[in-house]
Amino acid sequence: MLKNSTITGWGHYAPERVVTNDELAETIDTSDEWIRTRSGIRERHIAGPDDHTSTMATRAAEMALDRAGLTAADLDLILIATSSPDYLTPPVSSQVQDNLGAACGAMTLAVGCTGFVYGLVTAHQFIAAGSYSTVLVVGAELISRNLDWTDRGTCVLFGDGAGAVIMQATDQKAGLLSHVLGSDGSGHEHLIQPSGGCRIPPTHESLDAGQNFLRMNGREVFKFATRAMVESLSQVMTEAGIEPKDIDLFIPHQANARIIEYAVQKAGLDPEKVIVNVDRYGNTSAATIPIALSEAFEARRAKPGDTLALVGFGAGLTWAACLFQLAAAPVSPNGQHEHPAVEGFIA
Ligand code: COA
Repeated sequence: MLKNSTITGWGHYAPERVVTNDELAETIDTSDEWIRTRSGIRERHIAGPDDHTSTMATRAAEMALDRAGLTAADLDLILIATSSPDYLTPPVSSQVQDNLGAACGAMTLAVGCTGFVYGLVTAHQFIAAGSYSTVLVVGAELISRNLDWTDRGTCVLFGDGAGAVIMQATDQKAGLLSHVLGSDGSGHEHLIQPSGGCRIPPTHESLDAGQNFLRMNGREVFKFATRAMVESLSQVMTEAGIEPKDIDLFIPHQANARIIEYAVQKAGLDPEKVIVNVDRYGNTSAATIPIALSEAFEARRAKPGDTLALVGFGAGLTWAACLFQLAAAPVSPNGQHEHPAVEGFIA
C-alpha cells in the first residue's frame, strides 16, 4: 500500500558574511537602486574561506535532524541538490553523509536551481513506495566562487547558503498532491558554466577566457522563468483539483522579486500567502526554496495541515512544481520520535 509523507524537520544555514548592494557598488559598476528595482535583492550571504557546499549542507541538515527529533542513524537516504559541489567527483552527498555520521545511501541531484523540488518529489516516491521511511533532502550552493565578479549582469544576483528538510512516512493524510518535473535542454546556453566538465576541460585557455564562470542571458532566462512558473503552477493545481484560494503558502524559487510578483498575479494567488526572502539572500539556486521553507516553519507561517505550493526553475533549462500537504499532527515513526517543534505549532 502506498504510504504518505510529510515534513518533520527543517533547517537552514547561511554564511556569516552579508554583502549589501552598496558594498558591491564599491567595486562593480552598479548601484543599490539598479539591483533593488531589477531584482528585489538588497543583500546576500557570501561564503568565507571555511564555508563549502558540504559544510553548509551539513549545518542545515543537522538543524533539520534536530527539529525532527532524529539522529543521522535514523536516515534511510540522503539527497543533496546542488550545482556547486565541492568536487565534480566524489559526489558532495557522500561528504555530507560522512559529516553527519549517517550510514545510508546518498546521492547528488544536479538540476540547477530546480534541484530541491526534484529532490522533494524523489524523496516522496521512495517513501510512498514503502522503500524508506526517513529521507533527508538538502539544497546547498556555494555559487559565489563560480561567479565572474566583473560580470555585473550576473554576479549581483546570487548568494550562498543551504536549506534542508526531513521527510518521513506517515499514515495521516499528507504528502505530494501533484507534481510536474520539466526539462528543455534546447535552452541550455542561457544559463551555463561552460568549462569544468568534460566538454571544455579547465585549461589555461579556458580559464583565461573565464569559461569556468557562470554565464547568464538574463532576458531569456527572465522570459523562460515567468512562463515556467505560471504554467507549472497551473498544471499542479489542475492535477490536484486545487484552486488558488486552497493554497496556504506559496514558496517559489527566489531568483527575482519581479518574477515572483508576476507569477503570483497571473496565478491569482493571495500575496499574503507568498514567501519572499530574495531581498536578504539573493538567488541561492537550489537552496532558495528550502531556506524559505525553513524560515516559514520558524516563523510559524507554515503550519500543520497546510497545503504548500513549491515552484522552481533554472539551468537546464528545467522547472518543477509540486503541491505538498503537511500532516496535521506530529509524526512518530516506530513510536519513538516525539516532535516538540511541531507540537509547539499546534498548541
Ligand atoms: N548594474 C547596473 N546596470 C546593469 C547591471 C548592474 N548590475 N547589470 C546590467 N546592467 C545594465 C545593462 O548593461 C543594460 O544596459 P544597456 O541598456 O546600456 O545595455 C541595462 O542595465 C539593462 O539591462 P537588462 O538586461 O535589460 O536589464 P533587465 O531589466 O532585463 O534586468 C536581470 C536584468 C538580469 C535582472 C533580469 O533579466 C533577470 O532577472 N533575469 C532572470 C535572471 C534569473 O532569474 N536568473 C536565475 C535563474 S535560476
